[in-house]
Amino acid sequence: MPGPLDVFRDGVLAGHVALVTGGGTGICRGIAAAYARLGADVCIVSRKQDVLDATAKELSEATGRTILGVAADVRDPDAIARAVATTVERFGKLDTLINGAAGNFLAPAAALTPNGFRTVIDIDLNGTFYAARAAFEHLQKSGEALILNISATLHYHGTPLQLHASAAKAGVDAVTKNLAVEWGRFGIRVCGIAPGPIAETEGMKRLAPGEATAKMTAAIPAGRFGAIDEIAAAAVYLRSPAAAYVTGHVLVVDGGHCVATPPLGMSFAT
Ligand code: HXC
Repeated sequence: MPGPLDVFRDGVLAGHVALVTGGGTGICRGIAAAYARLGADVCIVSRKQDVLDATAKELSEATGRTILGVAADVRDPDAIARAVATTVERFGKLDTLINGAAGNFLAPAAALTPNGFRTVIDIDLNGTFYAARAAFEHLQKSGEALILNISATLHYHGTPLQLHASAAKAGVDAVTKNLAVEWGRFGIRVCGIAPGPIAETEGMKRLAPGEATAKMTAAIPAGRFGAIDEIAAAAVYLRSPAAAYVTGHVLVVDGGHCVATPPLGMSFAT
């Protein structure tokens, strides 16, 4: 059986330029790798330059493409605007913005500090808007632009210990729909991906540590965690001409997790 990315034609993203926030690690690193493998020029953005440098080197070696790594905190609108400008300077344009930078931890609402709540909203939700706002002037010149916002399924139900992340991701999905409506006439599609539990990610290490992994797996109809490449494949599909008429949609990629009951297999205990 071919892998999730093997079904895409080599070079299908040639000539595309993408900026991926959160691209240093995890799911968004996988998306950056897939885009580069299929011919795109990619800039990855996160807070730590050393992480970006290591990822850029690995992805360059694996794909033969130049990967640009620009350190910026998405909570800082000026910093993300500079990262967008650097990408356009280096690659000449911007076609795709992927908003994947996210912060998360398990915390009961009663113990969550205002700063803890604000921090996650700032990264996930405000960061998504800041990056979209900064990218807009360049994306509208693309003619076939896409903003792809990575959210989650947490807010489809009340998820214990995840008030902050649920509120942030609900906001991200709202941004997806609103921008799709406002920016469609500028040739910008805006879509989302809502990943379920994905193996080998920082999020899952934090949210499903130790024996919680087995409990969560039992609640997934597919019977397993997803793979990073399965999210990357969805991101390639949404970027491709096959999805040219898809906008304002959030694609759930979760092995059926969010339609199962109980949805998360998480307990109230940390
Ligand atoms: C309670 C916490 C906390 C924790 C941080 N805070 N971690 N509160 N429990 N474990 C609180 C702090 O106490 C502080 O509030 C405030 O948050 C800011 O914390 P700092 O450490 O000062 O901020 P910062 O250095 O910016 O880092 C915060 C962070 C970091 C970005 C959230 O913890 C982080 O990097 N987390 C990992 C990122 C991650 O997991 N990304 C993948 C997300 S996956 P006070 O009041 O004390 O000042 C995802 C998808 C879920 O979200 C889907 C599941 C299916």
